[in-house]
Amino acid sequence: MTPDDSNGSEPRFQPLTVPRRTVMGPGPSSASPTVLRAMSLPVIGYLDPAYFDVLEEVESMLKEVFKTEQRAFAVAGAGSAGMEAGLQSILERGDKVIICSYGYFCERQVMMCERLGAEVIELRTEWGKAFDPQVLKDALREHADTRLVVSIHAETSAGTLHPVKEMSEIAHDAGALFLTDVVTSLAGCEVDFDGWDLDFAYSGSQKCLAAPPGISPVALSERALDHIRGRKTLPSSWYLDLSLIADYWGPERKHHHTNPVNMVYGLREALALALNEGLETRWLRHERVAAALRAGLNAMGLESPVEPSARLNQLTVVSLPKGVDDVKLRGQLFDLYGIEVGRGLGQFAGKVIRIGLMGESCVPANVFNLLNALERLLPEYGYETGKGVGTGAAAAQLAAEPAPLY
Ligand SMILES: Cc1ncc(COP(=O)(O)O)c(C=O)c1O
Repeated sequence: MTPDDSNGSEPRFQPLTVPRRTVMGPGPSSASPTVLRAMSLPVIGYLDPAYFDVLEEVESMLKEVFKTEQRAFAVAGAGSAGMEAGLQSILERGDKVIICSYGYFCERQVMMCERLGAEVIELRTEWGKAFDPQVLKDALREHADTRLVVSIHAETSAGTLHPVKEMSEIAHDAGALFLTDVVTSLAGCEVDFDGWDLDFAYSGSQKCLAAPPGISPVALSERALDHIRGRKTLPSSWYLDLSLIADYWGPERKHHHTNPVNMVYGLREALALALNEGLETRWLRHERVAAALRAGLNAMGLESPVEPSARLNQLTVVSLPKGVDDVKLRGQLFDLYGIEVGRGLGQFAGKVIRIGLMGESCVPANVFNLLNALERLLPEYGYETGKGVGTGAAAAQLAAEPAPLY
């Protein structure tokens, strides 16, 4: 066959299409169309002065979102790349690290630290409860030579928010550095990097920032950067060495790897959307939309295993009533209603579903769609909720405390 022979015939492959979904799991959440449009702008070189202007703007927007005047930039990769970049840049083989552990992603931090050959002290506490800072205080008394304390601000697997400000103070009083995961919290509730005196925080683009997965915004203290530059041994990963990435994002623009330019355009647009909405308004949107979901679930008699004071707005954990099969229910939500929710992990496996309301997905319409679907499906399992009971309660909650328009 010559190239001419194919004229007029069907190409072997058609353009890609994907189904429409209502994405209400633990992440990714939906990406804003504005963000997706920005990502289709032309590729330019990562050493092009026009691209440096983009980087400069992204850096200053990230500083606003993280609330820091120290270093803020983005690691190419998923949230786990930010996690690994922080751990492997700060810790040397044999360093002692305390990991406050109350969920699945805390366990990932433990695995990473073990691979690094660090001496890991894991402070395991019950899922569904806020971490008690006294546990850390006691552990640091016993392990005064701890290099780093590791934590998660918003544990998506357990649906819990943790007191990282107090934890950071305790770590610093003991002379340790303090690292926290803000993958699910950044842009969905308050994160105050400088005010909470954090040393390293990493996030993900795919949750409350309303961008696709693939880039990890991070903030780094000058104290932590000095520590990394002064290490006795080089970090084991060249690609994830935070000091090298910081040098590319810094005034010298030192070449490192090929920066993912279109992901950075998307991040720029996502940050612009968040800052234009106003961070406080965005946090309030997450609070009020989650309150509507909880009102609906409560009215239907559905409960959460998470203690009320520790509940995350971005992710609601719902206990399944007796006789409701988790896999079957999630399958029905997906197949019949196009709604994706998350399964229970670890201590919650098989017992709960997890409902995400983050960024672009955090809108009242999603709450009503899901509650309506649950009202229709649960009676099939012998669990009668009454039609309109959940959706009605959610509407009443929004009437009393409206969510900011988005
Ligand atoms: C709290 C938390 N940390 C870390 C991660 C890992 O992020 P990624 O899947 O983008 O690597 C997630 C992902 O859901 C998360 O929820």
